[in-house]
Amino acid sequence: MEVITKINEMRTRVLSVKSSKKSIGLVPTMGALHDGHISLIQSGRKENDELFVSIFLNPTQFDNNDDFDKYPRQLNEDIEIIRKENADVVFAPSCEEMYPDGFCTNVIQDRLSDTLCGEVRPGHFDGVATVVTKLFNIFQPDRAYFGQKDYQQGAIIKRLVADMNMDIDIRVCPTVREEDGLALSSRNRRLNPEERQNSLCIHGSLLKAREMFASNISDTKEIIDEMTSVIKKTKHTKIDYISIVNVDTLEDLSTVNGRALVAVAVWIGNTRLIDNTILE
Ligand code: PAJ
Repeated sequence: MEVITKINEMRTRVLSVKSSKKSIGLVPTMGALHDGHISLIQSGRKENDELFVSIFLNPTQFDNNDDFDKYPRQLNEDIEIIRKENADVVFAPSCEEMYPDGFCTNVIQDRLSDTLCGEVRPGHFDGVATVVTKLFNIFQPDRAYFGQKDYQQGAIIKRLVADMNMDIDIRVCPTVREEDGLALSSRNRRLNPEERQNSLCIHGSLLKAREMFASNISDTKEIIDEMTSVIKKTKHTKIDYISIVNVDTLEDLSTVNGRALVAVAVWIGNTRLIDNTILE
């Protein structure tokens, strides 16, 4: 497995794969890899001739310096994890490589970026859309892999490739969870034992929504009220949002007819966690 840090070198490698008509899969990550990332790498490995994984802690998508500073960094460990999964290349550029002096072009998406996490993290999805566009241009992948845990991100990327006519198949893979239901996240390692216990209220609130929907309750206000009380019962939590929205437009729904996304963002102490489930 090769580790490449320069864009030009990466492009040369991509061109040689393209000229031999092999397919390219891309898994973009910010490192601090866990089993959620690994599941994307495994799907990508199965479905492509060449699999590339990028590790780039993208500063422009952090709306909070403290969150960026505290984000775990473990490049050497990550490279070993990816090696075991038989990827072909790890691309780990520096910030200067991705954003050289004079960089001033951004990809901004309306509407889908205005709700849910976009509403509470201004600029976050512009940073994501910009870096992902750069990665797509560098790698020209046939398929790119994202996790359902970041549902809004996946929806934004799907819209980005449709709107900008990029010929890339966006695969959204299921959320990988701990045995007790907590969705895996690089931020989970910031939780102390008490916070780790408290974080279970997030999955608990989603289970509550599923349970209510299964017993034919489709009024979203009623479901959200119950979910709110599950979280409020837990100490040291603060709700950023609990929303039930259309799976494509991410617009709020008043009743669930057909499919709906239930999305939650909650502060557990000083750590903000997100999760979601689909009702159908
Ligand atoms: P990062 O948070 O490192 O996540 C990389 C990919 O792993 C994302 O597509 C994310 O949805 C997926 N992922 C995270 N937790 C998961 C879980 N528990 N189960 C399944 N998949 C999971 O998301 C980003 O990086 C960045 O925004 C990025 C797309 C790389 C752009 O900078």
